Amino acid sequence: MTEQRGNWTSSAGFILAATGSAIGLGNLWKFPFITWENNGGAFVLVYLVCIAAVGLPIMMAELLIGRKTQQSAVGALKEAVGPAWGLVGLWGVLCGFTLLSYYTVIAGWSLYFFAKTAGWMVGGFPTGTSLGQVFTEQSANGGLQIALSLGFSVATVSVVYFGVQKGIEKIARLFLPVLFVILALLFMVSFAMDGSREALTFIFRPSFNELDGGSVLEALGHAFFTLSLGMGAMITYGSYIARNQSVVKASGIIVLLDTVIALVATVIMFTVIFTAGMQDQVGDTGTVGMLFISLPQLFFAEGIVPGGAVLAPLFYVLVALAALTSTMSLLEVVTSYIIDEHGIERGKATLACGGVVFLFTILAALSFGGADFASNLSAPGRLGDLLFAGKTSWFGMADHFVSNWMLPTGGLAITVAVGWFMTREATESELVDETVPGWFNYNTWRFFIRYISPAAVAAIVVAVLFFGVDFS
Ligand code: PFF
Repeated sequence: MTEQRGNWTSSAGFILAATGSAIGLGNLWKFPFITWENNGGAFVLVYLVCIAAVGLPIMMAELLIGRKTQQSAVGALKEAVGPAWGLVGLWGVLCGFTLLSYYTVIAGWSLYFFAKTAGWMVGGFPTGTSLGQVFTEQSANGGLQIALSLGFSVATVSVVYFGVQKGIEKIARLFLPVLFVILALLFMVSFAMDGSREALTFIFRPSFNELDGGSVLEALGHAFFTLSLGMGAMITYGSYIARNQSVVKASGIIVLLDTVIALVATVIMFTVIFTAGMQDQVGDTGTVGMLFISLPQLFFAEGIVPGGAVLAPLFYVLVALAALTSTMSLLEVVTSYIIDEHGIERGKATLACGGVVFLFTILAALSFGGADFASNLSAPGRLGDLLFAGKTSWFGMADHFVSNWMLPTGGLAITVAVGWFMTREATESELVDETVPGWFNYNTWRFFIRYISPAAVAAIVVAVLFFGVDFS
């Protein structure tokens, strides 16, 4: 079966695809919001340390398992570490499945807001419009939510259907440069705005008295999410790397790009918010509020964002592209497992996986008021009440399960597998070759993957299990 597997056509193609997986709603939606909640500065610094000390070594670990075995998550862990470790891969597949099922719903919102803002760009912003109301109405409209997420799912399936080279790599090569250009444009515009200085100070000036243990764990948990680690996505993408392409160099570039993009997006959003003097209201609208309520309003407000009416739809194109390059990696984790382990041909496997995931997407899409059985799970005796910390909706429950349970436990298992159950020779021969960059030191990496990363991830697991910390 190995002979039929695709490979990336080049190192650049692979790096773009993996960077596309990493850059997503986590960068544009979650990171700015948690930075806001944790008062910037010190939190950002801690996040950067987590990315370098935990994210980067695990990125290398996942990619090396993939490249070594040339198999998707389950087969790769079985072959590289031992038959029982296939279960960890299976846990990752389940995690990819669950995350994809609700990620698509938020991605669908970007389509809606693209259409809305494009309409306002042409027809003018209707005075007196309450963006909070626009948001609530669209998210509570079950039919609309299903249609939007169906549209997004079809796009994701269409890419994965065509495989690694003709689907995933092609779309990443096409869309990531567009994404970079749109972001650069917005970044430049933000520097012309009054609030940019205040935003930069908020983001980059650390004041450590604002920080507590919970913030540190949140930064660590987010490092996993944003780099697509802990569930086999990077193992899967790594399995398409040709033998002559360096894992170390690629990891460095992917991690760096993901981090820069998260910071740039945060600078842009905070500049807009500070320019409008909206600091007090942002927190009230919650995680989704910043991206889908505060920002669209500010793009159209007089005298805040120069050219805002044109930039608004562009901004939602950016969100949609970032989300698509992530959803395709999630679907690839599930599909490649079915292809490799069950010998099903790619076209059929993609359609089947996409179809089954969508059944759960329907539940997530109806979670915002579309249907009582999906929105109101915290009623006494229902699932949210019984099992998931009183989460009110199917969406909230799925996010809770993935962010708190699946990613940290999967991540812990992967670090232990690579650090303690693979031999030094096995990992060294994958990481150190003639392409290895000068900054890399194998012994340092091994120390981090054996001690620092498992200890850090174990801290998250303990916090979730015993102290009721909630990362969703
Ligand atoms: N890294 C993506 C983001 O920041 O939005 C989320 C993600 C995608 C996580 C793919 C895991 C994954 F396999």
